[in-house]
Amino acid sequence: MTETTGVKLLNGEQKMEMKATKEVKVGERVSFCRCWKSAKHPYCDGSHNKYNKETGDHVGPIVVAAVQATE
Ligand code: FES
Repeated sequence: MTETTGVKLLNGEQKMEMKATKEVKVGERVSFCRCWKSAKHPYCDGSHNKYNKETGDHVGPIVVAAVQATE
């Protein structure tokens, strides 16, 4: 099922609307990959840890929480 879900960054400073491609319950956190090494892209699978160790980089996922959509 595809639905529009309101989400916000955990720091609470930004809000955005996204089209969910999987069901996410209100309050559930989803980690999106930013290192492009995940085998489960667009989701983080922890591969950034190996990448960071090999390269000295400090990249990690962006973590968002689903919130109840408001009008
Ligand atoms: S695997 Fe890419 S950020 Fe975690």
